[in-house]
Amino acid sequence: MCGIVGYVGAQSALDVVIAGLKRLEYRGYDSAGVAVLADGGLASAKKAGKLVNLEKELVAQPLPPGSTGLGHTRWATHGGPTDVNAHPHLDNSGRVAVVHNGIIENFAALRAELAERGHRLESETDTEVVAHLLAEHFGAGAGLAEAMRQVCRRLEGAFTLVAVHADEPGVVVGARRNSPLVVGVGEGENFLASDVAAFIAHTRSAIELGQDQVVELRRDGVSVTGFDGSPATVRAYHVDWDASAAEKGGYDYFMLKEIAEQPKAVADTLLGRIDASGLLTLDEVRIPASVLREVDKVVIVACGTAYHAGMIAKLAIEHWTRIPCETELASEFRYRDPILDQRTLVIAISQSGETMDTLMALRHAREQGARVLAVCNTNGSTIPRESDAVLYTHAGPEVAVASTKAFLTQLVACYLVALYLGQVRGTKWGDEIETVIRELSDIAAAVDRVLETMEPVRALARSLADKDTVLFLGRHVGYPVALEGALKLKELAYMHAEGFAAGELKHGPIALIEEDLPVVVVVPSPRGRSVLHDKIVSNIQEIRARGARTIVIAEEGDDAVVPYADHLIRIPATPTLLQPLVATVPLQVFACELATARGNEVDQPRNLAKSVTVE
Ligand code: F6R
Repeated sequence: MCGIVGYVGAQSALDVVIAGLKRLEYRGYDSAGVAVLADGGLASAKKAGKLVNLEKELVAQPLPPGSTGLGHTRWATHGGPTDVNAHPHLDNSGRVAVVHNGIIENFAALRAELAERGHRLESETDTEVVAHLLAEHFGAGAGLAEAMRQVCRRLEGAFTLVAVHADEPGVVVGARRNSPLVVGVGEGENFLASDVAAFIAHTRSAIELGQDQVVELRRDGVSVTGFDGSPATVRAYHVDWDASAAEKGGYDYFMLKEIAEQPKAVADTLLGRIDASGLLTLDEVRIPASVLREVDKVVIVACGTAYHAGMIAKLAIEHWTRIPCETELASEFRYRDPILDQRTLVIAISQSGETMDTLMALRHAREQGARVLAVCNTNGSTIPRESDAVLYTHAGPEVAVASTKAFLTQLVACYLVALYLGQVRGTKWGDEIETVIRELSDIAAAVDRVLETMEPVRALARSLADKDTVLFLGRHVGYPVALEGALKLKELAYMHAEGFAAGELKHGPIALIEEDLPVVVVVPSPRGRSVLHDKIVSNIQEIRARGARTIVIAEEGDDAVVPYADHLIRIPATPTLLQPLVATVPLQVFACELATARGNEVDQPRNLAKSVTVE
């Protein structure tokens, strides 16, 4: 949440910062602002609303040119999305500017203290206190980096801060506790950003900042210390995707591009993880096989879409390994006093690797002695760094706020973990495991086939644009898919959408069914678990008898559903546990098209942000 960019070098800081903010706008888009050091002073501009409002302001009132600067795109926490509350925040002398991501929990006490000392604070934000405190410490003789260290030692909460001071031209200082901040190392220029996407057009060399670290950036160097001033060790890494991966590439929306990229994302996530003999080679998961054999419980923690991936992973893990597995909303996890020990494997699933609820859940798990395996899409992010092991998904950058390709790759990674656990533990499902590993290799092609047949789904979505409610039903793996379909519709189309376990319908929700209410039903494969299939076919009949308009997602060749489907969406036949990889895709397309038909912003839905770094 909130995007931050800092720059020092030879280029126009404003151009670099604005270009970087455009790539970070997915992190928040309530307001935006910039500051540059120029002509011995500091110039800044900020505006409520999307970045385009700030760009218009900068055309009307240009800033003087300078080669040191910072910028911010905001997702409001303290104080509404107004011009005054937008970042950067300046002290009363107007010589220090600061941008912030996170929440400073003790800001009220600090604010009162500053007011007593005669400072005038103008905004409702928690951030503004930092600008004033920095000015005080700087005025007392500390350099900007030292002032930042002194201020950070007084702050409580989660924060990334970036600051410049007019009396230290050519210096940008950043600080990090919990919220993300990455350094981009260039030739005669250096960058700071919440996400590498902001500087990937300039450099692919990055440095991951650790917890409680302060970084000082100059044109020719980067130095990192702890909040206490001690030298810090940092990890440098190479970003393995290029700027084009973060472009729309001819699509109207990032979401459309990311939906289309799913076959490749799935294939890339499998790449190099299945050996020539058809076995899994997950050496990168640095938890020794001997330890995995001792695991007696798996707990999955995640939020939103990643939680739905976790619900499916539970079914796969319990089936293939016979280890009890629970999936828990990360935001609820630590409040129920979970029972964990050294034999518990906790799997934290997160696209961004920065979701605060998931991070707090994993910290809680590690404190209880559990081992944590992260399933993550973002190299250098906090969740993998704080876990015992990581299995990266290879979805590439996901820019649209609504998760699509990350979800499919989270599923693939979770299947790999489940199958690997089964493989190292030698469960009775050995033959099935080998077969499924082979079948996973065919999934990318199956997703591709689904994408080729989406025109009727788009037409159906457009025809439902004036509806108020859509319900989604599923059983077994189809239930999390139904929840995911409903979540996509809520966040993109702003419609009332609910996902239900189909068997629960008769326990209450069936009262919602009325004439012509669209109900999407995810039907499991008729092969194998025929009881499961038969039960859901009965559910379709029950709702249709009460007037529902049934939209049925069913495997090719499943004729039993034909008489009861008002609309039939066909998906390729897959093993039951893998079906979510193909069944979710039409629901993504459906939500995206409905959002467009209702005139909504597809990539940046209202009130949301891509990376949720507050609890
Ligand atoms: C929904 C969506 C969110 C995220 C959730 C977790 O489309 O994107 O529900 O899935 O905020 O985010 P990560 O995976 O980054 O931890």
